[in-house]
Amino acid sequence: MDLGLTDRTYLVTGATRGLGFATARELVADGANVVVTGRTEESAAKAAATLGDRALGVAADNADPEAAARLVSAARERFGRLDGVLISVGGPAPGTTADNTDDQWRTAFEAVFLGAVRLAREAAAVLDEGGVIGFVLSGSVHEPIPGLTISNGLRPGLAGFAKSLADELGPRGIRVLGVLPGRIATDRMTQLDSLSGDPEGTRARNSATIPLGRYGRPEEFGRAAAFLLSPAASYINGVMVPVDGGARHGF
Ligand SMILES: NC(=O)c1ccc[n+]([C@@H]2O[C@H](COP(=O)([O-])OP(=O)(O)OC[C@H]3O[C@@H](n4cnc5c(N)ncnc54)[C@H](OP(=O)(O)O)[C@@H]3O)[C@@H](O)[C@H]2O)c1
Repeated sequence: MDLGLTDRTYLVTGATRGLGFATARELVADGANVVVTGRTEESAAKAAATLGDRALGVAADNADPEAAARLVSAARERFGRLDGVLISVGGPAPGTTADNTDDQWRTAFEAVFLGAVRLAREAAAVLDEGGVIGFVLSGSVHEPIPGLTISNGLRPGLAGFAKSLADELGPRGIRVLGVLPGRIATDRMTQLDSLSGDPEGTRARNSATIPLGRYGRPEEFGRAAAFLLSPAASYINGVMVPVDGGARHGF
């Protein structure tokens, strides 16, 4: 199957490592151009250099109110067009209701929630028919994850935002969707597993709850996301797609 990605241009935020980078790598492998971002010049440049000539690295913090407009402009200036965005970002602080401070909630809201809203809004203003806006969210959209209270609070709201955006942009032929990782083996997952003091035991216990019996590999997420962003997925719209090895128990 031809995904139709050749010479299309995507902006992927939070893409110096992890799920964003894995998606950018698949997009480039199928002939797309990408703008990849992280919070430092160094991390962005390094990721782009790894991806090759079809990639531009730009330093931007999703919490920065100026970032969205700057990134959309950078993509159009460098590659002459923008066909889609995938909004990923560092995950919110772990913790329980009792642990998490107002500052942690505010920081997460700015980077994870409002940053995503702004990027979607800026992209929506310039995307043409066939464009796509994707959000990397979490299984917490459907089911709270113990110890990730802020994620449990913010992700379902972003899914609601994505759904209303899909209604607004559908008449222009622009798709909007969410991708919901379960447990994919990235730095973020290593960090979360380490909180218990027994990362290997935690990973083994978590793996036992997943029908496929293991964590996902970043490239397994990247391939799914690249497909969903591609013209080959042209009738998939307004949905939250789990990439979780079957961990979600609802339909
Ligand atoms: N991995 C999973 O299985 C999983 C499961 C559920 C949800 N998620 C969510 O999916 C998202 C991506 O996860 P991941 O596993 O790829 O995380 P990760 O391995 O920690 O990578 C995070 C990426 O985001 C960048 N970043 C961090 N804060 C940023 C900010 N404020 N603005 C712009 N870029 C920023 C980091 O780059 P720099 O350090 O260079 O800035 C890095 O490239 C997170 O929100 C996470 O909570 C992941």
